[in-house]
Amino acid sequence: MAPPLHLVIPSLVGAATITWATWHITRFLTFHFWLPAHPLDAYKSKSPSAPNWAFVTGSSAGIGYAYAAELMHLGFDVIIHSHVAPELEASAAELRRLRPGAQVRTLHYDAVTFTAAELAERVEAVTAGLPVAILINNVGSIPISGDPFKEFSAYDGEDIDRCIALNASFMTHMTHMTRLMLPTLSRSSRSLTLNVTSAARVGMPWLSLYSATKAYNAGFSTSVCRELRAAGRTDVDCLLLAVDGDVVSQGNRLGLAPEGSILAKDYARMALERVDSAVRRGMVQLNPYWKHELLFAIMPWVPESAVQAAVTEQITQKKEGFYKLQ
Ligand SMILES: NC(=O)c1ccc[n+]([C@@H]2O[C@H](COP(=O)([O-])OP(=O)(O)OC[C@H]3O[C@@H](n4cnc5c(N)ncnc54)[C@H](OP(=O)(O)O)[C@@H]3O)[C@@H](O)[C@H]2O)c1
Repeated sequence: MAPPLHLVIPSLVGAATITWATWHITRFLTFHFWLPAHPLDAYKSKSPSAPNWAFVTGSSAGIGYAYAAELMHLGFDVIIHSHVAPELEASAAELRRLRPGAQVRTLHYDAVTFTAAELAERVEAVTAGLPVAILINNVGSIPISGDPFKEFSAYDGEDIDRCIALNASFMTHMTHMTRLMLPTLSRSSRSLTLNVTSAARVGMPWLSLYSATKAYNAGFSTSVCRELRAAGRTDVDCLLLAVDGDVVSQGNRLGLAPEGSILAKDYARMALERVDSAVRRGMVQLNPYWKHELLFAIMPWVPESAVQAAVTEQITQKKEGFYKLQ
């Protein structure tokens, strides 16, 4: 005799739930803890004697510098970029010491006051003849006058334009103009672009323009990534790199969240070690640190009142850390 329906339905729902949970937990664990022996080898030349180049924006300090150092450790030569020349040259010298014989080039250029034509010229000059296969669109900050945590009503026109230029326009122009999406022009057989965003893309109080531009980064990156896939471009990889929690850096040192803060060098290593797996799985977004991913994944499941309380507390803590120093 067939079992009654009131027993069959809960059993099927239970089995489906267990299968769904097991699948997600396995994917999560293998993604974060089963790592490749030779990360990013897919973006290297087939010829062992040929150089391999990566370009990281905003990389004289913070996480950008850490990506550059990790890329050098993985065998890439790097182009680093920032807008304070002495600091940039000091960072380049430090990087050269990391791997004797490695090459480091510098692009000294302000990502706020840039113009498209001049940026194209400067990038053309610094990448001339190089097989650049990886671009990390990392530069980002809050380049406004006075208090970086001011209310939106206190922004002036220049604050708004500077924020959009640094965090959104510069990334868009870099991606467009370096043609890293087109490996034939970048002279590599396969290329990768990582576009950095932040948890602020959900909308943080007192960080209105920063939040908005980070949401722009997410939409831009995901759109371009899907467009490339729709066009069948298997030689071009593109991921949104979601920095969904505190990473200790030059720009983020105060009022850090007690749970989930991580050093820039550890974060950069985690990110680059997980790229191959993210690309293989067809992901459009990479969140490399398991604690950040878990904390961020909870957000859609809790009521807005809890999200409001959490983001208010988090940014209040940062404001207090910043004001104590003033
Ligand atoms: N740290 C975090 O917890 C966190 C969280 C979420 C997202 N993120 C994102 O991750 C990225 C890196 O953050 P970070 O904390 O490592 O930043 P950071 O420590 O402030 O470093 C920023 C880098 O960008 C350069 N830079 C700043 N303004 C520039 C400009 N106008 N033109 C050219 N270069 C400029 C800086 O050098 P100079 O000032 O010497 O030019 C430095 O090399 C950013 O996009 C940020 O939004 C960070």
